[in-house]
Amino acid sequence: MPTGLLGIEELSRGEVEAILHRARTFQPLQHQSYKKLDTLRGRMIVNLFFEASTRTRTSFEIAAKRLGADTVSITASGSSVSKGESLVDTLNTLAAMRPDAIVMRHAASGAPYFLAHHLAIPIVNAGDGTHEHPTQALLDALTILDHKPALEGLRVAIIGDIAHSRVARSNVHLLAKFGVDIVLCGPATLLPPELSAIATGVTLTNDIREAIEGADVIMMLRVQLERQHDPPLQAGEYFHFYGLRLDHMALAKPDAIVMHPGPINRGRELTSEVADFQQSVILNQVENGVAVRMAVLERVVGAHVEAARQKSGAVRESDKTERGMRTRSFGLGRDVLKS
Ligand code: CP
Repeated sequence: MPTGLLGIEELSRGEVEAILHRARTFQPLQHQSYKKLDTLRGRMIVNLFFEASTRTRTSFEIAAKRLGADTVSITASGSSVSKGESLVDTLNTLAAMRPDAIVMRHAASGAPYFLAHHLAIPIVNAGDGTHEHPTQALLDALTILDHKPALEGLRVAIIGDIAHSRVARSNVHLLAKFGVDIVLCGPATLLPPELSAIATGVTLTNDIREAIEGADVIMMLRVQLERQHDPPLQAGEYFHFYGLRLDHMALAKPDAIVMHPGPINRGRELTSEVADFQQSVILNQVENGVAVRMAVLERVVGAHVEAARQKSGAVRESDKTERGMRTRSFGLGRDVLKS
């Protein structure tokens, strides 16, 4: 059974709540700086990023350090993958140095799942292709809960390049566990109809105004040009139909918040006025990334250390039993020899 955190889909609602509850204890009070803890002192976390990242990689590193762990960060260009080494060989090489967890981002959907089935070291998925980005959905949920009393009963509009978005998928899996009314919106070419079936409470629309109508949360997504062979709309056309402008906010609930996982592209996905609007919580999301990743690392490494402790305890017990059996058989042998 793989350990670590691979996706939101396989977590129960209780597990999500437990992570969010723990993350809340790591959120610093206003104007207060983080205190360094020693929960993971002596532990080693490897950050292995095969795709670019600012927020996720930095916040995992900060989270690990704030828990007292040591960290090593490796990027694709700085690893032997650039010399032709396979992903499996790279992971086996890192695993041989016995880190306590590997945080991994990869362009191939499912890559961390495949590796987690073959390695005893816990893997934390920091984004796999178009599949999942579990810690992003957790930090998004924490941010929503900083502004709303509960997730239940909210209407959340997720707008943009849904087809290529691991952020959208992880958020849908998480929000659906809490009965959220989820509206996915984008151009038809970036909004596969099958997405309405991935969880309960999901509806699809190609009309941004319809998506925003009555929304409590508006979550904008980046257009992932690196995953599009032939972008369906020019940048200007895309912004005209799917860019969030300040006048759209009148359609949402008066206290609606605007979110974006980043990196944001001003003038493509949203205007600067919206990005810097007082109801924009984009930098709160970034801040919550550290608290959520602290909770995730503590949980994942803690579970791994506990499992190893129990295993070594069981090995010691079986050693004792085996030694006892050997002692008894020597005794029996001596007794037999004596008689
Ligand atoms: N939201 C997110 O995953 O950002 P990065 O690509 O900068 O990590």
